[in-house]
Amino acid sequence: MKISSEFSKYAQEYNSYKIIQEKVVKKLLSRISTRPQNILDLGCGSGAVCSSIDWEYQSFTGVDFAQGMLELHPRSKNIEALYGDFNDTAMFKNLSKNKYNHLISSSALQWAKNLEEVMLGIKKLNVPISLAIFTSGTFLTLNITAGLSPILRSSLETQELVEKHFDIECELVHYKLEFTSTREMFRYIKKSGVSASRNVLSYRETKKLMREYPLNYLEFEVIFIHSL
Ligand SMILES: C[S@@+](CC[C@H](N)C(=O)[O-])C[C@H]1O[C@@H](n2cnc3c(N)ncnc32)[C@H](O)[C@@H]1O
Repeated sequence: MKISSEFSKYAQEYNSYKIIQEKVVKKLLSRISTRPQNILDLGCGSGAVCSSIDWEYQSFTGVDFAQGMLELHPRSKNIEALYGDFNDTAMFKNLSKNKYNHLISSSALQWAKNLEEVMLGIKKLNVPISLAIFTSGTFLTLNITAGLSPILRSSLETQELVEKHFDIECELVHYKLEFTSTREMFRYIKKSGVSASRNVLSYRETKKLMREYPLNYLEFEVIFIHSL
């Protein structure tokens, strides 16, 4: 399954499954003290960033490639939600015609096919950045138990790729999400939009993993990156 369709499929349910993503948005926004007026949000989803901004601004542009998520995004005279794929360099050319004064991206850029190319695209916009990107410590014990290598870039690789093009400060944060049963935990993985098209385990392997997973929580690792 393509990543875009996985997010669209679960778009309705995603809202109730985005506990970690909401914590991430709150933390990301808490570090933006400049109250930017013209904001661009890459991988805006159903609008967690937009809905959490507590200052008045002139314009907010959310961009996402999952129509199902865009349909749920708030819209008003100063809020637009547009279709766009950040893996497509032409998108940045189009966006660079507008004037933004801050770029935010929360829980989305881990899915960049080529993060360095995305950074080059963002650089064209010439704006301060605030990014929260999930990294390879996410589902650490789950991956070890299943004998899988992490699907996400490491925090170091992510930091280095961004640092090549921006003066930044970084913070690595670990989250735990507890569950009352493994069944519930695996249901969460499927519905939260964090598994992203990775159906690598057979039914039997999944059952084995559910039996052997030693924790009652899932691990998440997020790197927070802000322009200096
Ligand atoms: C986990 S959600 C986060 C949504 C929102 N930013 C939040 O914090 O709740 C990741 C979002 O990134 C979007 N996304 C993933 N790859 C993308 C791409 N190449 N271009 C645009 N959006 C993308 C998905 O469609 C999804 O809405």
